[in-house]
Amino acid sequence: MPEQTTPSDKPVIKRVRTRHFQNAKDTGVKITGLTSYDMLSAQIFDEAGIDFLLVGDSAGNNVLGYDTTVPVTVDELIPLARGVAGAVSRAFVVADMPFGSYENSAEEALHTAVRFMKESRAHAVKLEGGVRSADKIRRIVDAGIPVMAHIGFTPQSEHGLGGHIIQGRGEGEEQLLADALAIEEAGAFAVVLEMVPAKAAQRVTEALRIPTIGVGAGPHVDGQLLVWTDFAGFSTGRIPKFVKQYADLRGVLTDAVTRFRGDVADARYPGPEHSYE
Ligand code: KIV
Repeated sequence: MPEQTTPSDKPVIKRVRTRHFQNAKDTGVKITGLTSYDMLSAQIFDEAGIDFLLVGDSAGNNVLGYDTTVPVTVDELIPLARGVAGAVSRAFVVADMPFGSYENSAEEALHTAVRFMKESRAHAVKLEGGVRSADKIRRIVDAGIPVMAHIGFTPQSEHGLGGHIIQGRGEGEEQLLADALAIEEAGAFAVVLEMVPAKAAQRVTEALRIPTIGVGAGPHVDGQLLVWTDFAGFSTGRIPKFVKQYADLRGVLTDAVTRFRGDVADARYPGPEHSYE
């Protein structure tokens, strides 16, 4: 997607819209996305020119203290999405529909999507599932709400899938393609492919008109998405193989907090420059 620093012969995108995702695919420009769960990270990512911010239900693991995304609720995600949507001026904000908020029916899915749009002011919603979610995607899109779909490894089904397992291998590749085509047919503007072999992701990307966004799907997709706490070295525990760490924020913060504790203990903080007359 063209950056704010794009040469002057190309139009600068003031605010990313769904049509820019399609333009990016059509012109071969890569799309960038990061998760964000708060105002401060959203401001930084927006200013750096990241095209879209996903208020993912990975907030469950990164903000809310759960061990999976399964317990996350709509009421927990809406305030996080509101903070992100309120912080950006260019980036497109996608709010994740959590487990249990859309599976029941297309009407339930629309009700949840409308809540996100009105109460958080996100620009789109995301939901998991291909063929099984196509009727929900269609209902939401028909109401004027853009939908980003999500197939491959779908964390909300972690228990059903038997853990963090790569999807779309062997015969699974045909199902992945069928899911992708059903999503496109239902009107989604983009689809996330999570943890699928690079060759399968390439096949899906070539078969679809809409852009594919990879998270652990190799290089032959239309854009890349990472969980920000993983890419910035803030997360603990198992970091997936596909994540490239661009910083060591955990190390930086640990160092800062250790020095603060030491300064207070040894009476080096506060000094006269931090004290009022
Ligand atoms: O919640 C999330 O962060 C996600 C991405 C990993 C695709 O759904």
